Amino acid sequence: MVKLDLTGCDSFVAKERFEQYVEKSLAAQKVLEEETGAGNDFLGWQHLPSSIGRKELDDCLSVVDRWVGKDIDLVAVIGIGGSYLGAKAAIEALSHTFAASLGGHGPQVVFAGENLSEDYTAELLDLLRLHNCACVVISKSGTTTEPAVAFRLVKNYLEETYGVDEARERIVAITDKARGALKSLSNQEGYKTFVIEDNIGGRFSVLTPVGLVPIALAGFDIEAMVKGAQDAEKALAERSADNVAVRYAAMRNLLYDDGKKVELFASFNPKLQYLGEWLKQLFGESEGKDGKGIFPASVIFTTDLHSMGQYIQEGERMLFETVITVENAQREVTIPSDPQNLDGLNYLAGKHVEHCNRMAQLGTRMAHIDGGVPNIDIRMDRLDEYNLGAVFYFFEKVCGISAYVLGVNPFNQPGVEAYKKNMFKLLEKPGY
Ligand code: PA5
Repeated sequence: MVKLDLTGCDSFVAKERFEQYVEKSLAAQKVLEEETGAGNDFLGWQHLPSSIGRKELDDCLSVVDRWVGKDIDLVAVIGIGGSYLGAKAAIEALSHTFAASLGGHGPQVVFAGENLSEDYTAELLDLLRLHNCACVVISKSGTTTEPAVAFRLVKNYLEETYGVDEARERIVAITDKARGALKSLSNQEGYKTFVIEDNIGGRFSVLTPVGLVPIALAGFDIEAMVKGAQDAEKALAERSADNVAVRYAAMRNLLYDDGKKVELFASFNPKLQYLGEWLKQLFGESEGKDGKGIFPASVIFTTDLHSMGQYIQEGERMLFETVITVENAQREVTIPSDPQNLDGLNYLAGKHVEHCNRMAQLGTRMAHIDGGVPNIDIRMDRLDEYNLGAVFYFFEKVCGISAYVLGVNPFNQPGVEAYKKNMFKLLEKPGY
């Protein structure tokens, strides 16, 4: 399960004030769990893990079986925002770093429809031509421009390459149960379709087929992931000041009220880069409204200590850091001894690379706290499906509680429409 260490904030906050924020956080947890707050028609994610059984898992896994039978070796997953970041975060976290070159674990899963770059799109089509491919298209509204453009192109490619009937076997759609262009298109074409329930917003959908189907296709154990989320759902429902979701939500709101307006999500494991992206969307879209909200940013250390480290240490003091620590590495690499020691590194001979990483983490924590950056440490045992499932649910729960403490509706995103209106007008979309 997820562990929380707030001692890196001790020198920044008085204990009594923190206890007041824990009380606020407990009140927000009650509102969330009793479904009496703003946006309470979007709380389907709260009891989602415990509602997933064998039938739901088998339905997701049926897509894997279908495409294994066709020797599919590349799947384009088309979606944007909440319709892609969870799957991308999980697959990046669980995959071999060089999986694209090594192959092996399952079909290669690539993402599309999360941008409108012509070069990206052309290069995606180059890649499809080299593989035996299929596509999962994900859009809750079924009307989002970026995935719609990518899907039109990929659908055309699949139909031209494999024929219309076979293309239908190679397309899976994940969308609303009734509304949107993707739903009517899927009905007409007879695609295998999964429903995104009305009461689950995109950024809370990683544990629905939106995340589970691509993650299963990439060869990972979605049953273990759901089990991790189920255990988190149970543990985090505890109405207690010891609840780690309550405590973390309390601390981030207290720091925000004390002028720490930016939360820097950091990890010393580069496999968590896209978890950082998922977190930015989860918190940014949920809290950034009504002129309020912690600005979420993300870094990977030690890499970014050599780019952002200077600012974090000495720039404007509006930051706090939330470090996501993976306690156990999966692999072991020992630094060898060198008789000549020309690089002067023999003091590290016989040590694991991860030992150096941990010392870097400890040294960074001390330096940043000294420099005025409060440090929150969130720990997971290891990077596997079970722990990731727990981490996803943990942050969703924190987000719901935290946004209610802040006093905003976490489940809408009215600000996202502004660019779309301008873009549609500029593109001369009918009706704009
Ligand atoms: O969290 C959200 O609701 C958004 O980020 C959406 O997921 C994103 O805008 C994509 O929307 P849709 O799935 O309707 O294409």
